[in-house]
Amino acid sequence: MARVLSGIQPSGSLHIGNYFAMMKRMIEYQDSHELFCFIVNYHAMTSQHDHKTLSDSPINAAIDFLALGLDPQKCFFWVQSDIPEVTELAWILSCHTSLGLLERSHSYKDKIAKGIIPNCGLFTYPVLMAADILLYNAELIPVGKDQKQHIEITRDIAERFNLVYGETFVLPEPIIPDDIAVIPGIDGQKMSKSYGNTIDIFEEEDILRKKVMRIKTDSTPIEAPKDPDSCNLFALYKLFASPEKTSSLRDRYLKGGVGYGEVKKELIELIYEYFAPFRKKRNELLKDRASVAEILKKGADKTRPIAVKTLDEVKRKTGLYYI
Ligand code: ADP
Ligand code: TRP
Repeated sequence: MARVLSGIQPSGSLHIGNYFAMMKRMIEYQDSHELFCFIVNYHAMTSQHDHKTLSDSPINAAIDFLALGLDPQKCFFWVQSDIPEVTELAWILSCHTSLGLLERSHSYKDKIAKGIIPNCGLFTYPVLMAADILLYNAELIPVGKDQKQHIEITRDIAERFNLVYGETFVLPEPIIPDDIAVIPGIDGQKMSKSYGNTIDIFEEEDILRKKVMRIKTDSTPIEAPKDPDSCNLFALYKLFASPEKTSSLRDRYLKGGVGYGEVKKELIELIYEYFAPFRKKRNELLKDRASVAEILKKGADKTRPIAVKTLDEVKRKTGLYYI
């Protein structure tokens, strides 16, 4: 059974980009693969220095995962900082990673271009991510397209390590289906917590309505034919609608006669109904944060022996055991 692994930053509410690109697929994998799913609070710390936010957010993210159907009995589910071996491995890997490899990181360069003053953690973010993956010898990594280069960096680091010390790490493969590679936000850019353009999974109904009505569209008149493939609204619609509804809307776009306003109204209903069955469970979990914390601690206990074993092998091979 192939080993699937992916992590998610807990900062901010989780959105439908996170859901379709990562969470939904992870939940599906739990029935067919060996699944490793975790909440990356050390990564969040590269930009989050508020005590309350950092301490509350892993449980909030875990509540969403559990409400949406992740079953901790069927997978390994934990918070990154509960397995300290990851930072030890990250240090060892960082000593085998060239500066140039990290300097080429798009995600780092984009953040600098936005004027963020980088800390060292932001620069070495991909090394910690490599440690996350290699510590568990994961094979398949379901992520969105923005994470592809991080997996490539992981492969580079693993290859170099294997070359120096002998076969140690499995080289992971990113799994990025085209239809969810980049989910647009309401402004048409990639949906992201950091761009303020998200539709959250558990959005309140009135806010959902306002956000959907604000989705950016062009000014093609109602009667004119429209291109479904360049339309953000259509891209979001097809995530929620059945294949029949999607194909019928595609035909109506191509023929002309459909207004964006009417599609938006339908989309509001589709999104709300799609997540409605999960809301009840989420409301229950929100009242019982202690049980969720317990699930995460148990998850770390179940996962940690795998991390300890890999780290032991790495320390032995590199020469860190000095007698
Ligand atoms: P954000 O950009 O909102 O901070 P994260 O970096 O925490 O999101 O992403 C968690 C997972 O969701 C990653 O696998 C990432 O690739 C995926 N993801 C996030 N936003 C999108 C999007 N708009 N389209 C496709 N995948 C996305
Ligand atoms: N960097 C990823 C993101 O922002 C989160 C992440 C951390 C991750 N470690 C990982 C994803 C390991 C996949 C595998 O979305």
